Formats: sequence, structure tokens, C-alpha cells
Amino acid sequence: MTSSEIRQKFLDFFKSKGHKIVPSAPIVVKDDPTLMFTNAGMNQFKDYFLGNQTPENPRIADTQKCLRVSGKHNDLEEVGVDTYHHTMFEMLGNWSIGDYFKKEAIEWSWELLTKVYGLPKDRLYVTVFEGDASENLPPSSVALVEWKKWVEEDKYSNKGASFAISAYLRTLLTNEAPFQKWLKGNSDAMTEQEKQGASIFFGKAGCVTCHYEKNLGSMNFAALGVKDHYEMGGLNTSESDRRNLGRGGFTGKDEDMYKFRTPQLYNLGDSGPYFHGGSKNSLEEVVRYFNTGVVENIRVPKTQIAEFITPIGLSEEEIQALTQFLQNGLRDPNLKRYVPSSVLSRMCFPNNDLTSKIDMDCF
Ligand code: HEC
Repeated sequence: MTSSEIRQKFLDFFKSKGHKIVPSAPIVVKDDPTLMFTNAGMNQFKDYFLGNQTPENPRIADTQKCLRVSGKHNDLEEVGVDTYHHTMFEMLGNWSIGDYFKKEAIEWSWELLTKVYGLPKDRLYVTVFEGDASENLPPSSVALVEWKKWVEEDKYSNKGASFAISAYLRTLLTNEAPFQKWLKGNSDAMTEQEKQGASIFFGKAGCVTCHYEKNLGSMNFAALGVKDHYEMGGLNTSESDRRNLGRGGFTGKDEDMYKFRTPQLYNLGDSGPYFHGGSKNSLEEVVRYFNTGVVENIRVPKTQIAEFITPIGLSEEEIQALTQFLQNGLRDPNLKRYVPSSVLSRMCFPNNDLTSKIDMDCF
């Protein structure tokens, strides 16, 4: 679309909404000692805004030639730095002098951009003034309500953000752990102790009955009878916290009560504590819990507890081997390879706060 088409479509559109089309005022301002050059579309309507004059038609649309080379709006220094600053440009404007306000302005701008110009809706973002306590200005509640009628809210929700984060997390794959290298045929990738641990995991200890997917987790939900977070002194939780009920707390079904999803097992050594309540501080303690097979959480009914929770009878050497397998055999040592050097938004990664921006030199 050429610039004259853009200009014409704009004027035609607002004409169809009852606007009078007026010509651009001259760039050199007459009769106004406060301004040398026209620098905004509103200049020629100053007397209307000040209430000194009343327009024939309260709805006006125009395209105004503007020059910004001095004074309050001086763009000279920006020209050539980015792709959208010019010292001389045209400003398209639709004006309402005491007539319509935010509702129509929002509805029509959306119609113009998406229907007339055909811009894809999912690539448009809108902002709403959030208020300013220091100026005693409230947030723009009207604009918020009106925009919500047109713009899909999903895009800005916590849900949307969580989807984006999980989509990103799914690209972070641990695939250089010794066990994975061993699976690919490198028989030296694991130590003898780690190999022994692996064979206990997949054999005698029976861990693989639940931890069987590629990431060694699964959609198998089980109650292991470990302590809840409030018992460990966790904040903002209590005995009545429905999260203590695991999946049952969300589905409300009897069969799901106290059951948790079988988690993946890679790179756990980097970040304890373990289990839903954070009741074990090391992987060795986890292994010892399974080996002893004695339930710690008396509130979980026996009928719910996984049959697996019963003494396994591993020797001390086997406990160490299984621990080493979890700790090291399943640890990809080089996850830093996933840290992007830059992101499309050009924001700092992973921290985008002001201090990080200065530290990381990304603006
Ligand atoms: C009956 C299914 C089942 C079996 C068998 C099983 N697990 Fe698990 N495992 C789970 C579930 C479910 C959890 C999460 C429990 C919770 O947080 O309440 C879990 C948690 C873990 C965790 C903690 C992970 C974390 O991020 O906190 C480790 C480590 C682990 N299992 C290792 C093992 C090992 C080693 C074995 C074999 C000795 C084993 N599991 C056997 C179901 C099982």
C-alpha cells in the first residue's frame, strides 16, 4: 500500500463516520507567536480546544504536514538512529470537539487498522493508561473496558504468560547426561558405580514402574506418603491446604486424593529439596526413604499409598550406587548452552529489570 493510499483510506474512513475533512494547515504558523512551525496535527485546532471558537462540525479529520526541528518536539537527533523518526512528516488525525470520546475512538481505530488496512489482529498490542498517583490521576477504566471488546485478552493474561514459559521450557532438553550418552552407545560415559545404580533403578528397586517415560517421569499419579510442605515450616500453607491432597485437591475425586504426578528425574542434583513438601534435602535421603518404605505422613489413608512403599532391602553399597546414578548419571552438566545471547524482543535475558539492563548493557 502506498502512502497516498494510506492517506486516502484514512480520510475516506473518517468521512464515512461523519467527519468533515479539512486541508493541512501551512507548516509555517501564522497568528501564533508561541510556535514557529506546525509540529502536531492539533495545532490548527488550538482555538477549538481552548474554547475560543466552535467548529461547524464537531468531527474533523485531516492530514497535517509537521516539522519537528526545535522546541518541545525536536526529532533532529533521532533521525537516522531508528527507522521511524523524520524531521518532516504527515500526521493523520481524527478530532472530536466535544462530541464522541473513547468508546468510538477505540472502536473506529480498531476497525480502521484491522478492516480497512487489514493489519493482522494478533500482531497488534494496545496499552491502557494505568493511572499516576503522584498526579492524582486514576487509571483509564473506560479505555480498558472498550479495548477488551476488540482485543483478545488472552494474549496479556497470566495464563498466556504461563503458556509461553512452558513452551520455552519444553525446548530445554537435558540430552548430554552420562546415562543418555551411555544409551547412545558410549559405554565409558558412566562410571561403574553409576552403571550399578542404573541397573538397580531399572531392576531390583523397581523405580521404573512409575518413572518410565523418556524424561524418567510419567503421567502415573501416586501417593508416597511423604510429608506436606506445612510440616516442613513452609510459608503460606497449612494442614488444610488443598494442595496437600495432590491431584485430588484439583479434581475432587476420591481415587486421586494425596496422589502426585511422577516427576522427571534429570538434573535433580542441582536443586533440592525433594518431594512435594520439600521433605528430603538430598537424593540420598530420597533413596533411603524408598528403601526403608515406611510412610511418614499419617494423614494419608493406607488404601491410597502406593503398594511400592514397602522395604526394598538395598545394601549400603547399592544405596550409594543408586544415589550416584541419580546425582551424576542423570545430570547434564552443560545446560548453559540454552541461554540465548539475545531475544527477539531485544530485552535482556533472563533478567530485564533496570539494574540488569545496565549491568548487561542491553537497551
Ligand atoms: C509408585 C510410583 C513410583 C515409584 C515406584 C517410584 N517413584 Fe519416584 N516418585 C513418584 C512420585 C509420585 C513422586 C512425587 C511424590 C511427591 O512429591 O509427593 C516421586 C518423586 C521422586 C523423586 C523426587 C523428585 C523431585 O523432583 O522432588 C525422586 C528423586 C524419585 N522419585 C526417585 C525414585 C527412585 C530412585 C525410585 C526407586 C527406588 C522411585 N522414585 C520409585 C513415583 C514413584
